[in-house]
Amino acid sequence: MAIETLSLQLRSLVKASGELELSLAQVPTPQPAEDEILVRIEGTPINPSDLGLLIGPADLSQATATGAGPAAKVTAPVAPQFLKALKPRLDQSMPVGNEGAGVVVAAGASPAAQALVGKTVAILGGAMYAQYRAVKAADALVLPEGATAADGASCFVNPLTALGMVETMRREGHTALIHTAAASNLGQMLNKICIKDGVGLVNVVRNAEQAKILTDIGAKYVVDSSEPDFVEKLTDTIAETGATLAFDAIGGGKLAGQILGAIETAANRKATEYSRYGSSTYKQVYIYGGLDTRPTELARNFGLSWGLGGWLLTPFLMKIGPAEAQRLRQRVADELKTTFASHYTAEISLAEVLDPKIMAAYNKRATGEKYLINPNKGL
Ligand SMILES: NC(=O)c1ccc[n+]([C@@H]2O[C@H](COP(=O)([O-])OP(=O)(O)OC[C@H]3O[C@@H](n4cnc5c(N)ncnc54)[C@H](OP(=O)(O)O)[C@@H]3O)[C@@H](O)[C@H]2O)c1
Repeated sequence: MAIETLSLQLRSLVKASGELELSLAQVPTPQPAEDEILVRIEGTPINPSDLGLLIGPADLSQATATGAGPAAKVTAPVAPQFLKALKPRLDQSMPVGNEGAGVVVAAGASPAAQALVGKTVAILGGAMYAQYRAVKAADALVLPEGATAADGASCFVNPLTALGMVETMRREGHTALIHTAAASNLGQMLNKICIKDGVGLVNVVRNAEQAKILTDIGAKYVVDSSEPDFVEKLTDTIAETGATLAFDAIGGGKLAGQILGAIETAANRKATEYSRYGSSTYKQVYIYGGLDTRPTELARNFGLSWGLGGWLLTPFLMKIGPAEAQRLRQRVADELKTTFASHYTAEISLAEVLDPKIMAAYNKRATGEKYLINPNKGL
């Protein structure tokens, strides 16, 4: 198949005047350098981390669409109070899309790059909401025989984060985990990993449907934050699993503090003497998402042996080094259709990403509502 010299790339622009503009830019198709491959992207997911860059704080209820196909454009207002935080990106047209998969259609001269021509690969590195993307051959993950681009589109961000949580637990001396917004795509993967690896996992969800999703895939401990006895149940399951480390995707509100408090109460159940500094059990919560953007509230009813921090995949992978990171990537490839399978609500074209009705649906970040973009699907 001939490769077009110009191809489409989705762009997100926030203007200093307070307007988000999403459009499709015609850009020169990248030429792979000596050690690079050119991938025709056929699957790239819309994850919460992509939505931060794609839409940010724009008010989609006031979105206006114009044009069709490659000329599609959508604009939406951004309230003035958000512009300060967006300063580094104002008036810059930015490509979007953390990860994706597709077929290698051209390669630089190096043998490693040439060996990948025709293969279906998964890649990471931004600017994936585009018809073509060039990356270093060494950074591509070759998908197993028979796997499609849709199977491999979400190979990195959620799978490696879920594996990274278990790895962090082991490295930091904890033996079981607590996870919030636990029926998410990532949360379901984490359950499969923990079941397979025999790691105790307390899942925190916010309604009964989410609890069912998890028990149906074999989760043993699921607590619902909308139940009146939530904190007692959280404490009981923490006591039973021995979990002292939580990964919190929500961030805002009381939940992180409630978890620290529940770990403390569970630890005190075993205490033989009183300490005015609280238990000596070290309790850690990592906030790794911002599903609730309000401030984090801590009641500090959990002594002084605790930590609250942020957790991000890329620095974690740099910390563990290339050999360990490759071991995790290989596990993702080996278990692509089982542990790390992702399900999508719909496969949409680049132009459909700019359809206000579809935008409202994917921007909800709702359970089981993940969209896959196929940039090479007809517009
Ligand atoms: N730090 C990192 O390196 C890293 C890497 C990967 C992913 N992440 C984070 O991981 C999280 C999950 O990603 P995903 O792709 O698996 O998400 P997803 O499948 O889109 O699911 C999002 C889940 O969050 C729930 N949710 C949304 N807003 C919420 C709120 N305010 N309070 C409680 N629950 C809420 C949704 O439930 P409802 O249906 O009830 O709304 C849904 O179950 C995201 O926060 C993402 O940013 C972080």
